[in-house]
Amino acid sequence: MSTSRRDFLSRTALLAAGVAGSAAAQPPEPAHGNNLPVAYSPPKKPVIITRETGDNSVAEAYALLEGGADTLDAALHICQAREDDPNDHSVGLGGLPNEDGIVELDASVMHGPTRRAGSVAALPNIRHAARVAETVMRRTAHVMIVGNNAEQFAVDEGFPKENLLTDDARKIWLLWKEHGIGWWGPGLDSPDWKPPIAAPPGAIPHAALIPRHPTTEHLPAVEARMRYLSERADRMGIPARLRVEAVLQVMWPTTGTIHVSALNTKGELSGATTTSGLAWKIPGRVGDSPIIGAGCYTDQDIGSAGATGNGEENIKVVGAHTIIDQMRQGATPKEAGLEALRRIARNYNNDMTKLRYLDMIYYIVRRDGAYAGVSLWSTRGTGSQKKFVVHDGTLRTEPCDYLFEGNTLSIHPF
Ligand code: GLY
Repeated sequence: MSTSRRDFLSRTALLAAGVAGSAAAQPPEPAHGNNLPVAYSPPKKPVIITRETGDNSVAEAYALLEGGADTLDAALHICQAREDDPNDHSVGLGGLPNEDGIVELDASVMHGPTRRAGSVAALPNIRHAARVAETVMRRTAHVMIVGNNAEQFAVDEGFPKENLLTDDARKIWLLWKEHGIGWWGPGLDSPDWKPPIAAPPGAIPHAALIPRHPTTEHLPAVEARMRYLSERADRMGIPARLRVEAVLQVMWPTTGTIHVSALNTKGELSGATTTSGLAWKIPGRVGDSPIIGAGCYTDQDIGSAGATGNGEENIKVVGAHTIIDQMRQGATPKEAGLEALRRIARNYNNDMTKLRYLDMIYYIVRRDGAYAGVSLWSTRGTGSQKKFVVHDGTLRTEPCDYLFEGNTLSIHPF
């Protein structure tokens, strides 16, 4: 027998022995491969946690859960209501565009019972991005599809194609194009970043010099800039009803998003996150929302979590997964959320001059129905407490727990 034939036969024999051996081997302990020090029992009532929506979709989604609907369908019901609202400039139709005036959507879903995930990023021309993410999960062997190929996938799956840039969003974009600044660095995490400085009294300050929720020293500059932009908006024909919002979006672009986590009485969990991402972003920029583990993470044994806020920061701490992993070790939702926020702070060596420009809220539900909304900062610019929405039989708004007391100055930090 030739050497190569002998080699081949002996390798085949070894391979066969290996296969037989692995078939006979015991699965690793514990059998589900999930090293759980704590087991969470299902709650007596369903729980939904999300951002304020201003519509009936949370109550409707809760009724869906009570009627036995799948937890992901309930979560998507809320996402879809926001995506359909042209006046919500942070998601779907009416979302604010990238610097070229194109609305690019990011979304992700996780379905606890089947332990599956789907996501789309930089998706143009399709309104229901979260449903497309769910279709990626359900119809393909993939988790994530991006850009024009995600659009083609959605069209092939029967989603209607439409221009998502509404007339209002286009007008706000035009104001930004003439008077705003973009996202070319140095970013907050760059060694070259410098804090904005207050403009001298009477000057029309450059947009970059005005923090979102200014302290008293910034107020004259802010007022001057707002007056200036408001006059420009008027001259550009932006109607009065839209003018304040247009000015605010130019000065302090939104990172708005919606995340929904849903839990039923069988202990089944799902999460969904959808967004038009950071306003005026560089084309192709992808935030945390479509990143499984950052903007959304669901583990059927533990809980579900998601985020709204500065996507780049959340990606760096894989926030939603970090939270689930903390709860796996026995942390409460509040403790787990605070730990993820501490990691964001740690990335800046707890430098408050930088952290003031960041914003993050985590929405968390544990499999036993415990929940929390946890925010990096306690209050919005007007001093009002950051809030989240919970429905566990009673629909209500609750103040977020927080890491730092005070207002975020938020973007635009350069
Ligand atoms: N959290 C949304 C984004 O940064 O795109």
